[in-house]
Amino acid sequence: MKNKVKISGTSVPRFATRMGVIAVTVGSAVGLGNIWRFPYEAGVHGGGAFLLVYLVFIAVMGIPVVCAEMIIGRKTHSNVHGAFAALSHQRFWRVTGVIGITGALAILGFYSVVAGWTLEYLRQSLTSFSGIHSQSLLHARFDAFATNGWLPAAWAVMFLALNHIVLARGVQKGIERMSNLLMPMLFVIMLVFCVNSLMMPGMKEGLTFLFKPDFSQITPSVCLGAMGQAFFSLSLGLGTMITYSAYFNDGVPLVRTASVTAVLDTLTAILAGIMIFPAVFTYGEQPAAGPRLVFEVLPAIFADMTGGQWWSVAFFLLLFIASLTSTVSMSEIPIAYLVQQRGMSRRGATLTVTLISMALGVVSAMSFGPWSDFTICGLTFFNFLDFLSSNILLPLGGMIISVFVGWVLDRAVVNEQLGSGRQVPRRIVSAIVFCLRWVAPAGIAIIFITGLIG
Ligand code: TRP
Repeated sequence: MKNKVKISGTSVPRFATRMGVIAVTVGSAVGLGNIWRFPYEAGVHGGGAFLLVYLVFIAVMGIPVVCAEMIIGRKTHSNVHGAFAALSHQRFWRVTGVIGITGALAILGFYSVVAGWTLEYLRQSLTSFSGIHSQSLLHARFDAFATNGWLPAAWAVMFLALNHIVLARGVQKGIERMSNLLMPMLFVIMLVFCVNSLMMPGMKEGLTFLFKPDFSQITPSVCLGAMGQAFFSLSLGLGTMITYSAYFNDGVPLVRTASVTAVLDTLTAILAGIMIFPAVFTYGEQPAAGPRLVFEVLPAIFADMTGGQWWSVAFFLLLFIASLTSTVSMSEIPIAYLVQQRGMSRRGATLTVTLISMALGVVSAMSFGPWSDFTICGLTFFNFLDFLSSNILLPLGGMIISVFVGWVLDRAVVNEQLGSGRQVPRRIVSAIVFCLRWVAPAGIAIIFITGLIG
């Protein structure tokens, strides 16, 4: 691996190409968050109203906070904990390291379960493609599988084992190469499915649901959900972007990378919506079905397509890969910490993270069935991990990061980092700083308080 730089006694690797940088950041952002979580959250929270609030949050909080994380990571070339230690003597800021590492493990704990579902659906498409499009049968099939307990738990473990293999190969060979190859393929196949959905009888109703905002539906809980989704989808708040941009060369233009990532990520979520909602109405599914939504609707779409079995295989394969490029990025947060701060070998660190996330993954897979009585704050373990990370830890981490870059970090560092690589107009830098100083912290605080009590 070329271009290694020494930081705190260990060498930090670098991504080789500009294209690789885009592929890994987009690879991290695009995942189950777009294709599974976005449609179900939009479905639960009223469709168009949710989408509108979500887009606003991406623009005024998402892009600025991606920039903030990249400034911190590229300036220090260090992990979440090390980066704040290098930039400030005040110990308070290191809480971000704790939030980042806890949050990353919590997400791995439920994300691996859903990724495991994609593996089971991939297996079914290959070996026993049923061609069923009746929602009641698809519903029963999902239930039988998800509540089984050990089978989904085994798939979650299997997924984490595959995640382990990529991570163990290291940053450039493992992460960069895989992302380069697979992200463009996912995009193309989604376009095909969108065109297909646009020809369904439920097209009009589906698009109206997704794109026509009913302003009376914009409530504090919709805002909390949309904010959580914006942070989740852009992989923000835990320091994924800090960790990855530590591997960027100094010539990488941050504002451009952040914007391209946000645009492609949002576009993928909208494509997923266009793919799912016409089908929801065509096949008589409920938009508010929750986490199961996509897994009950997609098979119906495939059943009615010519060559449906192969579309189904291709889709679940790509969804699995999109999940993998995301879990790789969240696993890298604790791994970079263990390697750079604790002096562990990459192998040891990767193994540690894999074992902890496997334990969490098994418990949350079981929480759909045999262990559903075990609840925390009234939520099953799976829902608890999701709520804790998306609606609490990510926005909290995002708030601390934006306050840090907006108020504490030397403005010269901000200008230097945002301006390098490609000239960025002053207005844009000022707008980003304004969002980091005022809009993001105040917005997060208000939504937090009203959403959590509301
Ligand atoms: N953004 C990813 C998705 O949409 C998930 C993800 C990866 C993530 N890394 C993260 C979410 C870090 C929060 C924090 O699927």
